[in-house]
Amino acid sequence: MSIIHDINLAPSGKDKIDWVASYMPILNEIRADFAVRKPFAGLKIAMSIHLEAKTAYLAKVLREGGAEIYMTGCNPLSTQDDVAAAMAADPAGFEVYARHGVSDEEYTEHLKATLACCPDLIIDDGGDLISLLHGECRDYGKNLIGGCEETTTGIHRLQAREAAGLLNYPMIDVNDADCKHLFDNRYGTGQSTLDGIMNATNLIVAGKTFVIAGYGWCGKGLAMRARGMGAVVVITEIDPIKAIEAVMDGFTVLPMDEAARVGDVFVTLTGCADVIRREHFEVMKDGVLLANSGHFDVEIDKAALRELSVEAWVRKPNIEGFRMPDGRVLNLLAEGRLVNLAAGNGHPAEIMDMSFAIQAKGLEYLAKNGKALKPHLYAVPREIDEEVAAIKLRALGITIDTLSEEQKAYMSKVE
Ligand SMILES: NC(=O)c1ccc[n+]([C@@H]2O[C@H](COP(=O)([O-])OP(=O)(O)OC[C@H]3O[C@@H](n4cnc5c(N)ncnc54)[C@H](O)[C@@H]3O)[C@@H](O)[C@H]2O)c1
Repeated sequence: MSIIHDINLAPSGKDKIDWVASYMPILNEIRADFAVRKPFAGLKIAMSIHLEAKTAYLAKVLREGGAEIYMTGCNPLSTQDDVAAAMAADPAGFEVYARHGVSDEEYTEHLKATLACCPDLIIDDGGDLISLLHGECRDYGKNLIGGCEETTTGIHRLQAREAAGLLNYPMIDVNDADCKHLFDNRYGTGQSTLDGIMNATNLIVAGKTFVIAGYGWCGKGLAMRARGMGAVVVITEIDPIKAIEAVMDGFTVLPMDEAARVGDVFVTLTGCADVIRREHFEVMKDGVLLANSGHFDVEIDKAALRELSVEAWVRKPNIEGFRMPDGRVLNLLAEGRLVNLAAGNGHPAEIMDMSFAIQAKGLEYLAKNGKALKPHLYAVPREIDEEVAAIKLRALGITIDTLSEEQKAYMSKVE
């Protein structure tokens, strides 16, 4: 029995899913193929994902492949209630446990409810399902063949678990497939983070100083897009190589202690904790915007912000104002949770088409080969990455050159 906010919201959610589906040609091709071959016949898939239209469409593709689907969110604020309702009402049959804005306790209850089906396969985004399957919900893992992990933070958690000898299942690292991070983390996060900030604030980007913490794939994407809209961009980093890259890309690099004094908009995309802290809040300008697009709401020290403030109030949906003792107001967007999903619509459909094609193909690979795999974090097989890129090019109507036999021989010559 699904747990959702309101089933009457289903028509709006269905429209959203239909809209994105018409811009996801790779998933459409995979869906048609799955409908014939049914690679997941008899298998249960548990999904913890940002529950919105694109992930909903991925669930429909997997259902078409014969799977029973049990789904929940991976963040209390990114669930869209109308999409959850549309999935719960879908005649194909989905079990949905997700409501927007749930408490941390309820969020965990929904994760557990999703796992109670004792899934054969999982899709995780941030590592919460796999974490429960190694702890409190260990018994629900009795049929588990393995799973796919979507995001950088989840991969870090899996790497740490494997290094500690505590990983019990084979997992596929979707994030590090080229068709995922080169496009999703960079162009997807770049565009949708700006979208979330603009949607929440309705303020101008041009002429503002954006301080971007982290110059990884997500940070690079946001820096590129913010500059494109006329912002002055300052990068903070802890990795000397990434810092040089930012300098050579033409950005100013500063430690956060200095950047805190000059920024108008601060965005964290590091996957690290306490990136913006008390000492930074103390020197920020009046009216700054604070946002996070990293996976967890730990990058901006919200507790310190609350402690420092003499007043806190909701100024607008997704904006909380914090008045400092000297009268300055600092504005926190979307409670410091993923601003692109909490205050915007997440990544564009064409981007998630690539990421979710990797997910669908990765799960198919596990369904076929997973029982022979040892517990380990596996890279996505190169053929899957190349197949997804080839379908994308075909959908875009772009052809590329191929190596001749002579060229192949030349490239593989020993001397
Ligand atoms: N918003 C979204 O929709 C979305 C999409 C993809 C990934 N993510 C999340 O965004 C985060 C970043 O992902 P990524 O793929 O860019 O990772 P990445 O590893 O490519 O980049 C992270 C960067 O942050 C830097 N960094 C780490 N700690 C720092 C600190 N304290 N101060 C400054 N810089 C620091 C690292 O050196 C690295 O260059 C992760 O949490 C990931 O899960 C979010």
